[in-house]
Order: sequence, then C-alpha cells, then structure tokens
Amino acid sequence: MIELAIVVPTFKEKGNIHPLLERLNAALAGIEYEVIFVDDDSPDGTAAQIRGISTGDRRVRSLQRIGRRGLASACIEGMLSTAAPYVAVMDADLQHDETILPLMLEKLKEGGFDLVVGSRNVEGGSMGEFSSSRVRLSGLGRRLSNLICRCEIQDPMSGFFLLDRRFLEEVAHSVSGIGFKILVDLIASAKRPVRIAEVPFTFRSRLHGESKLDVLVGLEYLQLLLDKLIGDIVPPRFVIFSLVGAVGLVLYLSALWTMLHWLGFGTALAVAAFLAMTLNFFLNNNFTYRDRRLRGRRLVGGLLSFYAACSVGVVITVKFAQQVKDSGIPWYAAGLVGLIVSSVWNFVVTMLFTWRLRRRDARRSRGEAFQSSSVPVQRETP
Ligand code: GDD
Ligand code: MN
Repeated sequence: MIELAIVVPTFKEKGNIHPLLERLNAALAGIEYEVIFVDDDSPDGTAAQIRGISTGDRRVRSLQRIGRRGLASACIEGMLSTAAPYVAVMDADLQHDETILPLMLEKLKEGGFDLVVGSRNVEGGSMGEFSSSRVRLSGLGRRLSNLICRCEIQDPMSGFFLLDRRFLEEVAHSVSGIGFKILVDLIASAKRPVRIAEVPFTFRSRLHGESKLDVLVGLEYLQLLLDKLIGDIVPPRFVIFSLVGAVGLVLYLSALWTMLHWLGFGTALAVAAFLAMTLNFFLNNNFTYRDRRLRGRRLVGGLLSFYAACSVGVVITVKFAQQVKDSGIPWYAAGLVGLIVSSVWNFVVTMLFTWRLRRRDARRSRGEAFQSSSVPVQRETP
C-alpha cells in the first residue's frame, strides 16, 4: 500500500529529475511512496525523461499537461491523481530538503494536524542563499496572505508541504488554482481554521535550470488574493479589466483636455477615445488576458474586435443612461449606472470575441510563458 505520494510540478527541469529521485530514494527508505511529476509539456523533454524512468520504476508517474501552464493548478491535479493517504508537494529543483520528509510524515501521522509545512521561517530553518530582494518579496507575500488565511503560519509562501488527504478532499472544490502560491490557496480555501505544524529546513540553491518566478507571478498572487476575497461576488479578471479601464479613462480625459486646444470638440473626442481604447487593448492583452495573449497576426484582429466591442459599448451606455435619467434618477447616478453597464458589456463581449480560447490556440500556446490562468479550475473561465 502506498502511504505517501510526492507531487512534483515541473517546467523545464530535465536535469533535476534523476538527482531528485535518487535523493528521495535515499531519504524515504522504509516508506512506501510514489512520485507524481506534473509537467506542462516542457520543451526540453522533461516528460519524456520521466516516462523513461517510469518504465523501470513503478513508483514514478508522469502527468503531462498540454497547452496549460501553472504551478498551483499542476499541484492540484497531481494531488488529485493519487489515492495515497498522505500527499506531499515539493519543487523539482532540489531547493526543498527531502531529508525532512520522514519527520513531516511522522508529525502528520501523530494526528492533530491537517498540514505540515517545510518552513524557512521557524527556528532552525533559513532562506539559505536566497537573494535579499527575494527574501523581502517573500515577507511581503506573507503579510498579504494574512488577508485571506485565518491561521498562524510562519512560511505561507513555502511550496514544500505535506497534507492529509482528508484535508485535500475538504478543500479540493474550493481552490482557485491561480498562480504559484498553492499553499496559501489551500489554507484560504478551508472553511475552518487549518491545523498546521511547521518543520524547519534550509532553502537550498537551485541545482540545474532557472527559476520561473517573474513579475507576472506577483500579479497572479494578487489575483489569487482577489479571488479569495471577492471571487464569489465578482470574477478577479473583471476587477483587473476594470482597473485597466480606469487607467484608460484617465488617458482619455487628459488627451481630450490637451487636444481641445488644437482640435474641434468632436475630433478631439474621437482621437482621445481611439488612444484610450488602444492603450486598454494592449494593457488587457498583457495583464488581464496574459494567459490567452494574442500575438502576431491575431493581434490585429483582436484589436479591431476590441474597437468594435467598445464602440458598441459607448452607444449602449448613452442609450441606457439616458433612459435611466428620464425615469427621474439624478444625472450622476444615471451616469454611474451607464458606466457599470458598459464595463460589463465590454468585459463580457471582449472575453467572448477578442480573447476567446480556441482549441487551436491552446495547442499553439505550448511552451509559452505564463499560460497559467487557462485552467478549468478557475471559476470565471468559460
Ligand atoms: N507544471 C508546472 N507548470 N510546473 C511549474 C511551473 C508551471 O507553469 N512553473 C514552475 N514550475 C515548477 C518548477 O519546475 C519547479 O519545480 C517548481 O515549480 C518551482 O518553480 P521555480 O521556478 O523553481 O520557483 P521558485 O524557486 O522561484 O519558487 C519556489 O519557491 C517559493 C518559495 O520562495 C516555489 O516552490 C514556490 O512555490 C515557493 O513558494
Ligand atoms: Mn526553485
């Protein structure tokens, strides 16, 4: 009977697979375990490497996802693919100290805990040679996690933990699966305080390959926070879309104000609207819909459909706000209603037509950076 499953998300980790398995083999003597790699179709052939090992070692399994990206969603799918009573998650790059796994398992089996975290922030643990900027970033992430996690945990940013499958089953339907921070996601998805133990370890330096963390990962973390805070009411993608819209509005007004000196009102209005829509399109393409980012020839088609959708949005807003005002509601309230209606219109229509996800695109997106939100676990993805 398999007692422990270790889920390892991988993207371009070919050189780390062998060393990781050797170390696990040494560290887990006497424990029945299996290792499940969840690879997002790494272009370096990581999945083939894993399958090669699986043929000679029944403890090793490979789950290859095509047209998908995302650390958290990969972990969730890996965890759900095993029936083991205890499930661990760890990185492939050997930054997590596998020698503490038996101790983590022992703690969990003692009972009383849902989750045991490999922690860099409790006595005896350390960030190792992690750059000071990354340490600060981790600290910021930790403070922000307090917004959504109602429990005491010193290292919520850790990607190294072991959980009881009963806890997994409890939260599996509520996790967001957005971005990198799967531990925070799991804890925040529980409807009750989670019982957590932390076991110290020293964060090691990466063996082969490079880190996939970048600015967008930070943005995805904010998206996760938003999803947990207000996701039941508004989709986080709509919030980002609206923020982009607000930036567009500022550009629109300042462009209008500037151009009124040289152009007639009608022309200035049209040029300002054109500029704002263009800016909004590119901001949305790079942030709101980075997982479906349009490139090359499709960028042109997308831009044109965005112009069309927003222009119709303006007409609808004017008509709607006019009717609302005619029914006796003050002008500012009618204006606000118009704004909300047009935002929702623009959001829904551009989601369906400008950034629609077709099967063809999914295949094409393979290997591109940050496709993570195209996962079905995310609530607002149609
Ligand atoms: N399947 C899949 N898909 N795996 C991914 C993806 C992805 O899109 N992105 C990254 N990974 C895998 C990597 O191959 C690696 O095994 C692990 O996830 C961690 O990725 P790194 O790129 O090494 O991230 P890091 O070292 O910057 O961040 C790690 O440390 C943080 C603590 O500071 C991660 O473990 C975080 O979860 C952890 O919080
Ligand atoms: Mn790493």
